[in-house]
Amino acid sequence: MTNASTDNLAAVQRQYERWPYPHVPLLALVPSTQPWQLHCDYLFDRCGSGAAPKQPRIWIAGCGTFQPYVFGIANPKADILATDLSEHSLRLAKRRCRVHGLRHVQFAACDLNDPTTWPAGEFDMIECYGVLMNLPNPAATLKALGERLTPRGILRVMVYPQFSRSRIFQLQRLARLCGLHAGERDHPARFRALVRGLHKAHPLRFAFTTYEDSKNDAGVVDGFLHAGDRFFTGLQLGALICGANLTPAMWFHRPWAQPSVMAERLRLTDTSQSFVLHYLDIWQELRTNFIVCLRRADAPPRERGPLRTHPTFSTGGPLRHCLRLQRLRLLGGRVPTRTGQGEIVLSAKHARALATGIERLPDSARARLCADGLLLGGPLPVETLSVQEDLPDNSFATAPLQIGRLAPNPLYAHLFAAFELAQRHPELGLADLELQCARFAPWAEPLEQRPIHFGLTPYKTFQMFRVNVLDHLGRAPLPVAHSFADVRLRNDAACLQQLREWLRHADLPASLTPSDATLRELWSIVFGYQSLFMAIDGA
Ligand SMILES: C[S@@+](CC[C@H](N)C(=O)[O-])C[C@H]1O[C@@H](n2cnc3c(N)ncnc32)[C@H](O)[C@@H]1O
Repeated sequence: MTNASTDNLAAVQRQYERWPYPHVPLLALVPSTQPWQLHCDYLFDRCGSGAAPKQPRIWIAGCGTFQPYVFGIANPKADILATDLSEHSLRLAKRRCRVHGLRHVQFAACDLNDPTTWPAGEFDMIECYGVLMNLPNPAATLKALGERLTPRGILRVMVYPQFSRSRIFQLQRLARLCGLHAGERDHPARFRALVRGLHKAHPLRFAFTTYEDSKNDAGVVDGFLHAGDRFFTGLQLGALICGANLTPAMWFHRPWAQPSVMAERLRLTDTSQSFVLHYLDIWQELRTNFIVCLRRADAPPRERGPLRTHPTFSTGGPLRHCLRLQRLRLLGGRVPTRTGQGEIVLSAKHARALATGIERLPDSARARLCADGLLLGGPLPVETLSVQEDLPDNSFATAPLQIGRLAPNPLYAHLFAAFELAQRHPELGLADLELQCARFAPWAEPLEQRPIHFGLTPYKTFQMFRVNVLDHLGRAPLPVAHSFADVRLRNDAACLQQLREWLRHADLPASLTPSDATLRELWSIVFGYQSLFMAIDGA
């Protein structure tokens, strides 16, 4: 490991020792019928691995404070090992499991960068959720994790996407430019105050306040003051998966970000899963982080398992679980999902059939229950489960800092990546911008309805500034600058002064002595939000 990555690892470790994540009250209860999609048998079934072992071995790698409890509830018969780099997180997770009476979850410290610290043996399921992006060499770790799967085992991974999370990364940048970080106790509160000081119509203020984790300090640190996280593009994720000798078995975000479905709906010519996800992300229409269940590339062919009720809804268990099932069988109820399908309405009749035998149900009811996943052994998704890694990824980077009288505002540069994609990459065979937007129209995210002027997604922004965007695309390409040190803003001196005034009223570390380049970048973030284009001159 290089010195830089050793420093980074130490900073990440310090961060999670100081700010264990997530912050959830110890007594917060997860109902036993809620995390049913994390049951190993469900995941095996949906991934084409047949039925899971009766007592599967599960490893939660980078478990944080809460996942061990949720997996313990979801998999009452499993043998679960939860590991993390942060001893503090492990202590909290262990206390939570003990308080809630879960005895089948064990805990151990382990560094995912260093396989010599890993637990021994193979696992039927490995969960690595929100962790790979903290690691200096995610490719090596993913590959090594894949090698620890049993032949039909499942590895579930979540990583951040680039464009869909760009507002969060911009907020991180704002924090960094203002000298705020995870190392100081009072910095989350200072950052919160700083963002509250932004104009009400500012897209970053909107992104912050609507981000679930902005409500507590550990969440603010994990989201905005992180010591070293990163994003993946859809293409990078594809390359990561291929390079680790793994194949996607199920994109957990269904049905919207199901690549084959969306490729058809948006009439894309390149239908490789990694490109489709990349495309959805660049339009910020992914609606979630990347969450994927992987199998070993040399796993046995995908197969349909036997028709059976999902174990959560068929078997007994602790008294509270039995009472919940009894209630469903008497009254029916709503079953939440984690896969973007919304809630499933389960009738009392179907809940009873799940318990006593599904034979008497008509085929249509059985098909419905299979599609929902409450009945296992149904047809597998028909899509081709493959990723493609031969597209060069660096050419899809966020639009660079452009110079000109009507240059794209750097705060909105990521929107221009979507606007300019078809033009910059004719080899992709994309329709022109108007047609791409028209194809999105029936599917565009409800986010577009939110009460913010513009700048949340390329789709909404294009609706509002169609003429200006098309005018921009019709011009000769603008020259680009490397950084804010190489440009001047219109009324540069006045802008810098305005920003210095703003900083004077912000509660920031006294040691902060920003350069002019930093002030310009901050100005473009804090005050430049009102226009999609601005005048930027070369220095
Ligand atoms: C964003 S949190 C996610 C926690 C949990 N997986 C969840 O989804 O709630 C990242 C977790 O990864 C752990 N982590 C970071 N780097 C690690 C490493 N090198 N080895 C093991 N765990 C690590 C952190 O301590 C932290 O608990």
